[in-house]
Amino acid sequence: MADRRRILVTSALPYANGAIHLGHILEHIQTDIFVRFQRLRGHECIYVCADDVHGTAVMLNAESDNLSPEAYTAEITANHIRDFKAFLISHDCYSTTHHAENKSRTEEIYHRLKQAGQVKKASVEQLFDTQKQLFLADRFVTGGCPNCKAPDQYGDNCDACGATYAATDLLNPISKLSNTPPELRSSDHIFFALSNFTDFLKEWTNSGTLHPAVTNKLAEWLDEGLQDWDISRDAPYFGFEIPDEPGKYFYVWMDAPIGYMATFAQYCQANAINFEDYWRPDSECEVHHFIGKDIVNFHALFWPAILKTAQYRTPTHVHAHGFATINGEKMSKSKGTFINAKTYLSELSPEYLRYYYASKLNPGVGDLDLNLEDFVQKSNSDLVGKVANIASRCAGFINKQFDGQIKATTGTPLLAKTQAAATELASLFDATEFSKAMRQIMGLADQANQFIAEQAPWQLIKDPATRDQAEAVCADGLNLFRLLVLYLKPVLPGLAERSESFLNIPPLSWADHAHLLTNHHIKPFTPLIQRIEIDQVNAIVEAERKAYAANNEPQDAGSDTAEPETDSEALIDIDAFNAVELKVARIIEAKAVDGADKLLALRLDVGDHERTVFSGIKAAYSPEDLEGKLTVLVANLKPRTMKFGVSEGMVLAAGPGGENIFLLSPDSGAKPGMTVS
Ligand code: MSP
Ligand code: ZN
Repeated sequence: MADRRRILVTSALPYANGAIHLGHILEHIQTDIFVRFQRLRGHECIYVCADDVHGTAVMLNAESDNLSPEAYTAEITANHIRDFKAFLISHDCYSTTHHAENKSRTEEIYHRLKQAGQVKKASVEQLFDTQKQLFLADRFVTGGCPNCKAPDQYGDNCDACGATYAATDLLNPISKLSNTPPELRSSDHIFFALSNFTDFLKEWTNSGTLHPAVTNKLAEWLDEGLQDWDISRDAPYFGFEIPDEPGKYFYVWMDAPIGYMATFAQYCQANAINFEDYWRPDSECEVHHFIGKDIVNFHALFWPAILKTAQYRTPTHVHAHGFATINGEKMSKSKGTFINAKTYLSELSPEYLRYYYASKLNPGVGDLDLNLEDFVQKSNSDLVGKVANIASRCAGFINKQFDGQIKATTGTPLLAKTQAAATELASLFDATEFSKAMRQIMGLADQANQFIAEQAPWQLIKDPATRDQAEAVCADGLNLFRLLVLYLKPVLPGLAERSESFLNIPPLSWADHAHLLTNHHIKPFTPLIQRIEIDQVNAIVEAERKAYAANNEPQDAGSDTAEPETDSEALIDIDAFNAVELKVARIIEAKAVDGADKLLALRLDVGDHERTVFSGIKAAYSPEDLEGKLTVLVANLKPRTMKFGVSEGMVLAAGPGGENIFLLSPDSGAKPGMTVS
């Protein structure tokens, strides 16, 4: 093949601190469809991935399991590989970022950055956990929001008001690791001089390497000008130590993308491929990264700047997708919709999900909803009802009535039309326009079914005069089916393999659309794909919900880890209690708050004045039932600025939350403004 492309493809490296779930699977299915399509076309297409094992989270998880990070991640990686295989993801090599190859490549790239004069040192002030003896990453520290004073906010942004800030700005910070207040310490960090690359990246992000929506998003950062990027972390850290910088480690996001190269290098060594062909600056090979929209800055800003400085080529394309949601919502552990790959596979074959995701995937960054009812319906109507149905209708006659022999077709124009669709379908697959491709293929399947229904071979066969016509119509049907299976092969490799086997043909490649099957003997038909039931899907959700509930049972009060009930440190004196001013209030008006799914805004009569408080009781009460009710207000709380307005105090309620929350209400006779004591 003269124009044989050479393509390296990657999916983002999953963190080795949890199981593969249907969000990861979305990304790997998208990538795998692209990869299988390129291979079907006869191109060289190498697909690598690895586990991203470095960082503080893995280090701490391993520690609490009493394992080395290597031992802790080994099992996780093995499970990741098992799950991807089961979803028919065709990685050529799956490694880990802790591999020696990655260490040497990360060191080499770091040296090149240094040689290019793009590495700087600067002192950084950070919160330090004196008990655990480590610097705290943002998500390991909580405290009051410096903007709205809401308590218990993470070190990077506030859930209540949406403000972003530095962890060092938190009010009364507490380490989540030891529950102690951290102290401010400074230490030297190593920076990559990203600020020198703003112009280069403005051009690079506009050079066709990204979807326009991603380019626009990045322009917001680029227009502000980029800051230098901190690529070091202090010990203790699970990662690679930086050469000549004892006690300093490469930040996980420094060595993770280099893991793409290192994993590819391992594949090259085992398969006699020249690594440099792919990575030298003037390479004619292609490099495609598939990632989620949450990590575009790492792949489309830091990574190209690092590659350029280290004198490697930059990616041909960074394909960013949106997030998988389930039934229109973020995947939720408590609802059982945080579905692990393994749980899905315990009930269903991977191909239904591969097809469903394909039918919704496009090159954009919009979120993609897995609606479970629609999923069942679409699997049955498209895969079973449309595609497999053509084969089962026609193969039965060919096998039973015509000796398993496909002789000649009728020459219906639908055959030529279905063959000609290959050109447009190929450009759609190449452009990751999978939903459009699926729609076209199903359109052709509809026409095939309609053609067979009109010809009605089951009628034709009854009359000896039209028996040959029946045979030819079935030959048409099987040929149409073969073409559809070929076009679906990147998405449904298992269905394709089963079809190739009963059609008695060698593995289909894209070029095979150009000819038809005639004078060909097929094998006995075996069912290709089964209908699925909503019960199977419900069983998956139920299994996840139960697993979550089992891991989150309330502590047994009698267990020896329970706190003694009269812990003197937990008691407060009467002055502290008296400092809280409680008042009777009457709810004059209650209403839902735009954009807040848990809150009601309550307008309160407090005797001599009115005020508004926000209360998280929406799931338990409808607003009209609250109006006129008496309740208890904490009257001297500092006002809290939330996204939706200012909350002037809080009302008292009992219970764990959600639907199970009960507003405290004084007996009738109490009057708004009365002091509660
Ligand atoms: N380890 C980094 C990537 C390093 S790449 C050099 C990471 N890991 S991750 O496990 O958090 O995510 C891996 C990929 O899965 C990312 O591309 C992320 O966007 C994607 N997804 C994680 N949850 C997802 C959904 N719910 N839906 C779709 N993709 C999601 O980030
Ligand atoms: Zn805030």
